[in-house]
Amino acid sequence: MEDNTQKKERIVSGARPTGRLHLGNYWGTIRNWVDLQDKYDCYFFVADWHALTTGAEEKSAKIADNTRDMVLDLMAVGLDMEKCVFFRQSDVKAHAELNLLLSMIMPINQLLRNPTFKDQLREFYNQKYKGQEASKKDAEGVIRQLADAAGGEAQALQSDMAVLGFLGYPVLMAADIMIYDAKYVPIGRDQLPHLEITRELVRRFNKTFKAKVFYEPQPLFTKTAIVPGLDGRKMSKSYDNTISICEEPKSLEKKIKKMFTDPKKIKADDPGHPEGCVVCAFHRLYNEAGVPQIEQQCLAGQRGCGNCKKELIAIMEAAIGKVRERRAELEKTVDIDRILEEGAKKAAIIANAKVRQASKAAGII
Ligand code: TRP
Repeated sequence: MEDNTQKKERIVSGARPTGRLHLGNYWGTIRNWVDLQDKYDCYFFVADWHALTTGAEEKSAKIADNTRDMVLDLMAVGLDMEKCVFFRQSDVKAHAELNLLLSMIMPINQLLRNPTFKDQLREFYNQKYKGQEASKKDAEGVIRQLADAAGGEAQALQSDMAVLGFLGYPVLMAADIMIYDAKYVPIGRDQLPHLEITRELVRRFNKTFKAKVFYEPQPLFTKTAIVPGLDGRKMSKSYDNTISICEEPKSLEKKIKKMFTDPKKIKADDPGHPEGCVVCAFHRLYNEAGVPQIEQQCLAGQRGCGNCKKELIAIMEAAIGKVRERRAELEKTVDIDRILEEGAKKAAIIANAKVRQASKAAGII
């Protein structure tokens, strides 16, 4: 009998359980997962350990609920748990074991230079001390220390946010990927430095232990849309400018009404500038066919922002309403624990074998 799963190339990707999915998550990553599930042998997981790497104290209370929400949200937008192997990272302990092994060969220096570490630490720090006068200065101080440390002067990293797990984020992520011999990793550009570290760890491991245990994965760049938030900045929970994939009709309407448009367009018949307009950006996502005419009318001053928003509300509600209904239905019927349990069982078969192989190469066992 033919086994198709053997022939498909394997991809691995994870997402941290940070709360309900918003449209930025959907258009940025999740839509790709849904597209890829037919073409590849997919291993997708909830990166719950990764979620604890910043702000463990606040996060820990929410991780279990967020994980369940994530499973339902993913299914509501079309991820088929039968087509992919879907699991919770912490259910497959081998990830932690490989993380430990890899930590023996991962140079700290390189982790300190990791741009995402520096960026995220700065952002996290600023957020935590939002509105406090000292925050900016302190954050700059932390960054300077990091830069100094990376420059070879090993100064202590004073912030208590700079925990080991956070510094080691890319090592755990490398373990996630390497443990399944993933050929491709669908990721956004922001995750590229992490994938580079993964590729280097593959080479380093094989070289150090003189065995070909791991394979270098490639990034898989899929079409991604940068979704603006209501205020025109990138859509992000930390900016409080999101629209949920299941946004309720009333609040969807309210949010679209307050979306930023062209600030120079005051009256309905002023000519507008669709390229920087948030409302137009959403027309591009949800109303592709209508966009040429919308742009033309807007540029010619034949289209008021109020009307433009009204049209968008109807179009988006039609799309989001379907997701909302599906989600409500799934909530009643889906056995989340079973999905996660079965996914973990399947994942563990591959992961355990790989870790055994790696341990053996490293002289353990
Ligand atoms: N770091 C990824 C993110 O924040 C999540 C992640 C964890 C991941 N492990 C991974 C993505 C392995 C791809 C492969 O988006």
